[in-house]
Amino acid sequence: MLDKARVDRVHRQFEEAGQGHILYFWDSLSLAEQESFLEQLESIDPNVLNSILDHAMAASRNKSYFNNLTPLESESVRSVSKATREELQTWERLGLEAIEHQHVAVLLMAGGQGTRLGSKLPKGCFQGLGLPSRKTLFQIQAERILKLQQLATELLAKDTGRPQPKTIVVPWIIMTSQATRRVTESFLKDNAYFGLDPQHVIFFDQGVIPCFDSHGKLLLHSKHMLATAPNGNGGLYWALHKEGILDELERRGVQYVHSFSVDNILTKIADPVGIGYAIQTQADVMAKVVPKRMPEEPLGVICRLAGKIKVVEYSELDPSLAALQDPQTGELVYNAGYICNQVCSLKFLRRLPKILEDREQNILTHHVAWKKIPFVDTNNHHPQGAPEHLTVPDRPNGVKLEMFVFDVFPLAERFSCLQVPRSEEFSPVKNARGLDSPETARRDLEKLHVRWIEQAGGRVVRGNVVQSEERMNRTEDNLEEEPLGFELSPAISLAGEGLEWARDKKIPATSIETLDDVVL
Ligand code: UTP
Repeated sequence: MLDKARVDRVHRQFEEAGQGHILYFWDSLSLAEQESFLEQLESIDPNVLNSILDHAMAASRNKSYFNNLTPLESESVRSVSKATREELQTWERLGLEAIEHQHVAVLLMAGGQGTRLGSKLPKGCFQGLGLPSRKTLFQIQAERILKLQQLATELLAKDTGRPQPKTIVVPWIIMTSQATRRVTESFLKDNAYFGLDPQHVIFFDQGVIPCFDSHGKLLLHSKHMLATAPNGNGGLYWALHKEGILDELERRGVQYVHSFSVDNILTKIADPVGIGYAIQTQADVMAKVVPKRMPEEPLGVICRLAGKIKVVEYSELDPSLAALQDPQTGELVYNAGYICNQVCSLKFLRRLPKILEDREQNILTHHVAWKKIPFVDTNNHHPQGAPEHLTVPDRPNGVKLEMFVFDVFPLAERFSCLQVPRSEEFSPVKNARGLDSPETARRDLEKLHVRWIEQAGGRVVRGNVVQSEERMNRTEDNLEEEPLGFELSPAISLAGEGLEWARDKKIPATSIETLDDVVL
């Protein structure tokens, strides 16, 4: 028997907040169902939720802030391709030293539902990338971390003159959501973490937030459960604290956290240059950007709002601002395309929970996303009737509230920005077809690997035909649609290094896992 006072208190709270409809089925629920529903409801303050929704809705309608928007001034963005060799070497050295001292951890955001890609599995386990190696995004990332650890350990041996120093570890922190946790964890476990030590692969879950219909009413997922969704990749900061990850990182001596999205096939994980640049600029946050391809490219831009750093989502940027060009350079004025790739200092991450605890700050950071949300329609059910029927809408019927990873950037006391070459660092898998799809990601990875071989003085050949990058770019030959089937494993090269063996060689266009795969 449930405590009546407890039940009455919760019922009253939701009724007074105008959300009493969610109790429509209460009397038909079993005791166990009532208990679990009560627990869910007790974890929520409906008045806070209502005001989060109100603020988010008002913010989504408010375009007046565009008047105070200014582009990121050019001196705030350094570019890898314009940096001097000495600068790059300095940044790389600083980054490598931090990795050698085990001051660096990497944090993968893998809580998204990948609705645009339409895969049933979490994106990291998506089997349809179509790479020659048949690898998934999780496998590629694990192998990159493994290789990075190996290179850093070798460097340490060289630096210290000790042939067998301790193995350098770069902990892999994986943020999942209720939608992705189980499959992600078992996928990595079933694949023996692709060679990584499971002690250093740490999972944690981001939070969820209830979903609303178009009238601001909470939606039910079943007769005894609210419909909820992951609270956006910005849920990261609160969850890092709540799940004890910040303490764990502190315990391990980590000082810098490189966080990135699951779907960019070219992510340079714990890139020493980026980490070194963050260290040199003493940044709370250092974000990588690429120049936008065109005004309507679906990429947020980093700019300033009344002087503070602000990332404006592509859907929120006024088209006339997005299209503005610098008359001198012809470049877009709002050009700092945000690629969901940043280094944060642990000190900064530690400061955030306290700031976010402040309700006002929290309210300010939610965004509205109209989505198709399956729900139990109380209008079509008798409260005591048959088991519920889940309505699956074919068009957006409600609102998910999301926080974005970049919402905390204005809280950084020091912020720096590094422009990186898109062809080396950015090719996301967002859509099933067309732009930013498995096909483009596959092609971009292949082009990069062919270029590495050419830079090392070799040639990639299919049969006896030399496949240069220039030739691959020639659309008149329709070669873009004709992949070679060439791929280098991270075990062979992480960023184009260690390919001296390719000099003056013809390398077969195949997936190369070990040097035995290459007939030299
Ligand atoms: P996206 O905004 O591209 O979302 O996420 P998504 O879920 O992958 O794809 P769509 O929009 O549903 O098609 C950018 C990164 O943020 C992570 C994603 O996993 C991806 O790495 N993310 C997104 C989370 O970790 N949690 C979330 O709640 C949302």
